[in-house]
Amino acid sequence: MLVERPKSAENIGPIKIYYPQRIIKLGSKSPTLSALNFPKESLDHILKDFSIIIPIKNEDIRLFDSAIRSIPSDCHIIVVSNSNKEKCEKEMRLIEDFHDMTGDPIIFAHQRDPSIGSALEDIGYTSILDNGLVRDGKGEGLIIGLLITKCLKRKYVGFVDADNYMPTSIYEYVLDFAIGIAMSQTPYSMVRLLWKYKPKAVGDKLHLEKWGRVSRITNKYLNLLLSSLFGYETSIIMTGNAGEHAMTMELAERLSYASGYSFEPYQLIHMLESADDLDLKEDVEIFQIETLSPHMHENKGEEHIKDMILTSLSTIYHSRLSNKKLQEKIIKELKEKNILKDDKPPKNTIISPIKDINAKGFINSVKRESDIFMELR
Ligand code: GDD
Repeated sequence: MLVERPKSAENIGPIKIYYPQRIIKLGSKSPTLSALNFPKESLDHILKDFSIIIPIKNEDIRLFDSAIRSIPSDCHIIVVSNSNKEKCEKEMRLIEDFHDMTGDPIIFAHQRDPSIGSALEDIGYTSILDNGLVRDGKGEGLIIGLLITKCLKRKYVGFVDADNYMPTSIYEYVLDFAIGIAMSQTPYSMVRLLWKYKPKAVGDKLHLEKWGRVSRITNKYLNLLLSSLFGYETSIIMTGNAGEHAMTMELAERLSYASGYSFEPYQLIHMLESADDLDLKEDVEIFQIETLSPHMHENKGEEHIKDMILTSLSTIYHSRLSNKKLQEKIIKELKEKNILKDDKPPKNTIISPIKDINAKGFINSVKRESDIFMELR
């Protein structure tokens, strides 16, 4: 695969954020002046160390089926569901069929499984719990996936959504994750994907839009925040809400996380705010890679979009790096969009790092107690 060489980057303390790099070509022979070459074989050793986490909540089972079949075989798939009983049973049957057909290793967990809640309670990891159960929320599901990845001792973790209308594009996304890892010079790296296009149905036509309605706004305010820190204007952040992203576990284990859909924007805020407290031995590198495949996913409606905008902007509003002028702009934006109910956005719940968690003890206890958790090897 050919990917544009890293161009310029911005450094904020130990955090280095690269400007987006385009995937130029999927198959390729050799590097060029403007592009690095990563043949698939050169990425295989990285893919072998990847776990890919798929969060799912009541999605179309056919999309989910194609999504898991699109993940390169070397990766360990971890599905974390928050679906209702009927959908959950379908997901479990499908995973068994998938494993029978492919032999690929796959793990299934349900985040509201009481065995998971009580195992976390026992090891004292309670910031993710409410009344003894893991809270609802995409971010919470991803953290369960991170704990499982820690237990599997995989070096890298990637996240892909289950509601992708072009699921085979997930194959490219995972290779793009591996390319980011291959380019990285440090044990602490993150790869965030942005889309070449996000096609939208308008009447009877597909429009090839570039930005989603949430990303457009989150990116704008993250860039305003950075501009105020740098003292010059920047538009470097193009992946504020990157649902499809990957990290080294060395980095993932050190981060705190925000609940629900604030998971992705908060990663950036948290690293900028707390880099000095993360016990890093080297710098962090953040790559933003523009995929060749377009991205089409399920449309979950207006309220969902509003909720995502609110929780995303809340991470910026409440950051200690934010300033009064930026906060006023955020309030104005939220009021104009009829999103804000109170005088300021509610704070997102923050979940502690998993670095010091006994993941093995956690999984062993879940395996013993749960009748939903499945590990197929
Ligand atoms: N386990 C679990 N728990 N999964 C969930 C939950 C939950 O509470 N809520 C949603 N999911 C799953 C969905 O089933 C889907 O596979 C994935 O998480 C993304 O959720 P969506 O509700 O489909 O989000 P979206 O498509 O609007 O937004 C996505 O893209 C954004 C960037 O454009 C998400 O990945 C966002 O986090 C991302 O910022």
